[in-house]
Amino acid sequence: MFELIPYQKFRDTPKVRFFDITISNSNARDLVFHDGPAVSPHSASEGSWQFYLHPKQEDNLLALSGGRTFYLVNFDWEYPFHIVRLESGGDILRIPPGTFHRSVSDQDGSLVLNQALRKAEAKVEKEFRVYNSAEIPRLQWVTSKSAPPPKLHGFDRAELRAA
Ligand SMILES: [Fe+2]
Repeated sequence: MFELIPYQKFRDTPKVRFFDITISNSNARDLVFHDGPAVSPHSASEGSWQFYLHPKQEDNLLALSGGRTFYLVNFDWEYPFHIVRLESGGDILRIPPGTFHRSVSDQDGSLVLNQALRKAEAKVEKEFRVYNSAEIPRLQWVTSKSAPPPKLHGFDRAELRAA
């Protein structure tokens, strides 16, 4: 299952934010900047959702600025489809290997740091393959409107802010 991991906030004020965001065992770092409401990976030309899935990498994602919404599907989970909202300075989202995932940024974009755990046998071309849900019937069905709805996580703050 995915996890939302809290971390120590030494100082969290409007002017100064000072956090210990260490993910022990992380051996790879990537930074993903979305300029505006980007979708990653982008949808296919016919409009179907596309996903990443890392066979040998765990992601640990922290929004440094802006907000981003993650769509997660894993058929090994009791409930396979979840939508998780990350806000700047919120929890770190841990996505286990073998999870389909895609993300959509808020209107103003977002900056996300990934402190990944990459196994020694990981190959970049396999870890960053894109999967088109239109070509994977089970994935297409579980994310369709006719399937049970996704479970939502972390939407309280966004809803309060929009009120
Ligand atoms: Fe990822």
